[in-house]
Amino acid sequence: MSRIQSINIIPEPVLFNISSGKFILTEGTRIYSDQKLLKLSEYLKNLLLPATGINLIVKQTKEKIGNGTLINLKLTENNEELGFEGYNIEVNSKDINITAPNPVGIFYGIQTLRQLLPPEVIKSSIDENREWQIPCLKLEDFSRFSWRGYMLDEARHFHGKEIVKKMLDLMALLKLNKFHWHLTDDQGWRIEIKKYPKLTEIGSKREETQVGGRFSKKRDGIPHSGYYSQKDIQEIIEYAGDRFIQIIPEIDLPGHTRAALASYPNLSCKGYPFRVSTHFGFHKDVMCVGKEEVFEFIQNVLKEIVDLFPSNIVHIGGDEVLKDRWKECPDCQLRLEKEGLKREKELQTYFTNRIITFLNNYKQKTVIWNDALNENIKGKPICQYWFRRIKEVLKYLKKGGDMIMSDFRYTYLDHSYTFTPLKLAYKFEPIPKKLDERYHKQVLGLEALMWGEYVPNIKRLEWQIFPRLIAFAEIGWTPKSKKNFNSFQERLNFFLKRFDIIGINYATFREVKSHVLKRLFKVFTLATQEKGGT
Ligand code: ACM
Ligand code: ZN
Repeated sequence: MSRIQSINIIPEPVLFNISSGKFILTEGTRIYSDQKLLKLSEYLKNLLLPATGINLIVKQTKEKIGNGTLINLKLTENNEELGFEGYNIEVNSKDINITAPNPVGIFYGIQTLRQLLPPEVIKSSIDENREWQIPCLKLEDFSRFSWRGYMLDEARHFHGKEIVKKMLDLMALLKLNKFHWHLTDDQGWRIEIKKYPKLTEIGSKREETQVGGRFSKKRDGIPHSGYYSQKDIQEIIEYAGDRFIQIIPEIDLPGHTRAALASYPNLSCKGYPFRVSTHFGFHKDVMCVGKEEVFEFIQNVLKEIVDLFPSNIVHIGGDEVLKDRWKECPDCQLRLEKEGLKREKELQTYFTNRIITFLNNYKQKTVIWNDALNENIKGKPICQYWFRRIKEVLKYLKKGGDMIMSDFRYTYLDHSYTFTPLKLAYKFEPIPKKLDERYHKQVLGLEALMWGEYVPNIKRLEWQIFPRLIAFAEIGWTPKSKKNFNSFQERLNFFLKRFDIIGINYATFREVKSHVLKRLFKVFTLATQEKGGT
């Protein structure tokens, strides 16, 4: 049986054996499920209905089984090998059995089932005269890493609810389970905070936007705005939850805060009026760490975040904090003196520790960018690695800390395909080379980061993300020993038929390659805006 007819799943499953014969989905097929899985049965039914036109009847396992073919969803005992997210599928000509220790495994079994069916099953309207068949097989599958993340930066460009939901759907298909939502930055504040209405009244709007790349002085002259109400957020949390995706909100502090400072200038060292930034890169004005009112503000904001998001994990940023203002600020200098600190760098540690302690008291885990990590960081935050100082990361792991890996050379979805071609992205290995095996478990997994500075619309967004995110999904799930770029490319070719069918943009096989001549200028492509995606 050729690959195309048989099995083309991304991420590649751990084990499978295909046998002869096939299961055919018909009007007579029934879904039988445990009581606890009725919601997932309905989800499966609704996934299959639009393209097949088959309105599968859902029954509880207790009920009498008739003559038709069956899809059985069943929870099993815990199984060490399958772990929390694993599942088994057995397909015979008469029935399909999806079993797993937890509902999340059944959900992933359903995602695999979707990929075992013809790609047209993703259509939103009926596809007549197609036989909806699945090859007979046995499949066992479980995840390599528990953290398989995708970050979307909506501070730089706001895309809105419908696009976020579309992203969550695609994440589910790829078995990605963490949606890191970068909601605040210099260029926009995108989440309603009831106690501080100006954050969105003022902070969610900017007059125009830098275009043309990092060193460009050009602005587009077009106002940009948008934010999520807490009601919108709740709706999206529920949507993500139904797809077993945890949302990790990021409130980036104390740098990348110009939108907050424009809303409440008293939070800065200088206190003068600011505009929401219209350009990208480093900003000198950051939150003052000398004034108590800043901590009060942050704690009130985080309290609303904690009450809103059920994930119990909050990302507090900590990247790229310039210390210029702290050096000149009497309040910051007083803090330095009082706390017995020597350098402004230590003020960031003081700040980070205070926020982590606050969040820990609310039973929240904190995530910080690795810029904020050093040996004096307390409260065991999860650290997200992106740039430089890998030695610090190795030390942290040895001390018992947990890491998420987002090495900028591989996982930045905003980077050009010249800088990070698909093949290089696929090579990414989250476990650092020099790490002793006993610490491997503390590398929770990886995240691919979609920074939004130069990504103004959905077409460009999809083009930057795909197909690289598909590669990261495989790296996060599939055992390292099964990673194979040639096999991935073949399966990808098939996978992307679904995107053609539903009109999702992606970079073509020609575009995702790094061409020899362009590679000479690869760093330059980070500073300019490479064409593509439209
Ligand atoms: C980052 O790219 N500033 C985390
Ligand atoms: Zn200050």
